[in-house]
Amino acid sequence: MENTGTSDSGFDASYKGFDQDSADDHFVSDHQDSKVRDRYLRLNDVSYIKNELSQLQDDYMTTIQSRDEAKTMLTRQIKQREIINWDLEHQKRRTRDYNAQILKIQGANAAIRANLPLIEDGCKHCLPGWMLLNTMCYFLPLSDSINRRSWQDARTQCRRQGADLAILNSREKQLSLSRQISAQHDGSRQMYQSGFWIGLRDDEEEGHWKWRDGTSLVEGYWNEGEPNDELGEDCAATYPRDNPFHAWNDAPCGHPLKWICEMRPISRS
Ligand code: BGC
Ligand code: CA
Repeated sequence: MENTGTSDSGFDASYKGFDQDSADDHFVSDHQDSKVRDRYLRLNDVSYIKNELSQLQDDYMTTIQSRDEAKTMLTRQIKQREIINWDLEHQKRRTRDYNAQILKIQGANAAIRANLPLIEDGCKHCLPGWMLLNTMCYFLPLSDSINRRSWQDARTQCRRQGADLAILNSREKQLSLSRQISAQHDGSRQMYQSGFWIGLRDDEEEGHWKWRDGTSLVEGYWNEGEPNDELGEDCAATYPRDNPFHAWNDAPCGHPLKWICEMRPISRS
């Protein structure tokens, strides 16, 4: 079959495969066609691309807006978290304060309970200038105008008032009296002059400590290294110390010290 040479219509396709020249011509023509079509499509696509671009710009703006909103939200949440943390810290501090207060109140409550039998029994009282601690009355000659005395003279002084030197045979008693002594302590005074005689001696048998009512010492609140009988020391005194249970020393009985008198509360009836 002869090559017609026509190449500008779709009918040329029927000759493909029969005539190489014709096919080549056809190819050239197709190629030109597609070029035109491509150009035509590109022109058509301009509006499509414009639309796409505008859509993309819209999307971009929406994303930026969302990002900014998220940023604002994050900033707000960070601030809120800071406020919550601050609140939490304060709550913790308040809880600690409350717990400390609870402990304090519990201590005060225990002290009141210890004195409850006397409070309920309003007929009993201590002498003026004496104090009630753990159901007993005590006198401490704290004033500087009261001279220090030997153990024996101090005891005589207590007895004149119907009392005797204190028997500190429990931790509660030792703690209460020690607190009183430490609260009044004059720091400028020499440690070994700041003692208070208590009703405890080992004068009958060295090392066998007995209370003035004849009972043997069970638990002693001695300072480290005491009793040491350093100067032939047979009488005990309690001293102002940070640790109230390491507060006793044995000293020479003639040594002038303050003292602690103890007596039962007086019944009015
Ligand atoms: C000692 C005590 C002693 C006291 C007598 C101190 O230096 O450590 O054990 O009883 O002197 O005043
Ligand atoms: Ca001693």
